[in-house]
Amino acid sequence: VHAASRGLGLGSRLLEAARKRAYDLGCRRLWLITTNDNEPAMRFYQRRGMRIAAIHRGAIAESRKLKPEIALVGVGGRPIEDEIEFELLLMDC
Ligand SMILES: CC(C)(COP(=O)(O)OP(=O)(O)OC[C@H]1O[C@@H](n2cnc3c(N)ncnc32)[C@H](O)[C@@H]1OP(=O)(O)O)[C@@H](O)C(=O)NCCC(=O)NCCS
Repeated sequence: VHAASRGLGLGSRLLEAARKRAYDLGCRRLWLITTNDNEPAMRFYQRRGMRIAAIHRGAIAESRKLKPEIALVGVGGRPIEDEIEFELLLMDC
């Protein structure tokens, strides 16, 4: 969500639209990755029913080979190194 438009409900609506679309297509699991520094996003996803499914320690080094623009330092001045995988099991919805 563009920085000027955060906190207005757009992210919640996008997540709900993705959930509904995946469910309608017969998907069993909605999943995503965020980075170890991003507590605001982790809170956002958990308050909307998603749960941590895995921690991929050091995975950002591999992701940077595909996306070199990934910053070295993130929220709170912490190094960005690990990926946190969140999931929502759609049969529970
Ligand atoms: C996380 C994000 C997608 C949420 O979208 P949004 O449109 O701001 O979210 P909504 O308005 O629907 O809901 C607000 C919620 O987002 C949280 N939030 C996370 N980052 C925020 C930000 N920079 N500004 C405002 N709210 C933010 C709020 O704390 C609030 O959570 P709560 O309801 O649990 O209190 C969006 O803030 C964003 O793009 N953040 C920066 C990039 C990012 O971290 N993307 C996710 C990478 S995995």
